[in-house]
Amino acid sequence: MLAPLLQNKTHLLEIGSGTGQHAVWFAPQLPHLVWQTSDLRENHRGILHWIDDCPADNLRAPVELDVGGDRWPQQQFDAIYSSNTAHIMAWHEVEAMFANVSAHLQSGGLFALYGPMKYAGEFTSESNRLFDLQLREQVAHRGIREFHEINRLALEGDLILLDDHDLPANNRLLIWQKA
Ligand SMILES: C[S@@+](CC[C@H](N)C(=O)[O-])C[C@H]1O[C@@H](n2cnc3c(N)ncnc32)[C@H](O)[C@@H]1O
Repeated sequence: MLAPLLQNKTHLLEIGSGTGQHAVWFAPQLPHLVWQTSDLRENHRGILHWIDDCPADNLRAPVELDVGGDRWPQQQFDAIYSSNTAHIMAWHEVEAMFANVSAHLQSGGLFALYGPMKYAGEFTSESNRLFDLQLREQVAHRGIREFHEINRLALEGDLILLDDHDLPANNRLLIWQKA
């Protein structure tokens, strides 16, 4: 689903690479672009292990990136990808992510956000409702986000919704394009 959208992209930033498993899966399938991993410093060791085990010429070691901080890469990207992060970050960090994605995305560039969403207050499955409860019990600021609030942040940053894909396990893949 992601690969066809990225056919003509050259520089992708991944936010919140986590273990690095998504990066090592996608990067070899997209040899025409540079896949830049990033995350909070505490996750770099794990990402580097995955990259060591599954190297690819176009896969870059993680840069330190806290979406709410001021250490965003200096360069512009034509694609930004983030998976399973919006329900983990505090809401003010989600706001900062969208503002900075907009600032670091070239005109015509794509932002792809993967994960569970709520629509008009409704979860898309009972398992997502339970997952949301579990998230909030773990850390009060976590929780599955409301699509229209997320899309409002996108619009504030001139990010126009292109697609909202229904994916397995009650996850969505939201795609925006920078105007
Ligand atoms: C559930 S993990 C998802 C990891 C990976 N993307 C995946 O889908 O498997 C959430 C990720 O968000 C990252 N994260 C949380 N707060 C962040 C912040 N303020 N800035 C950047 N990344 C953050 C975490 O470090 C973690 O890697």
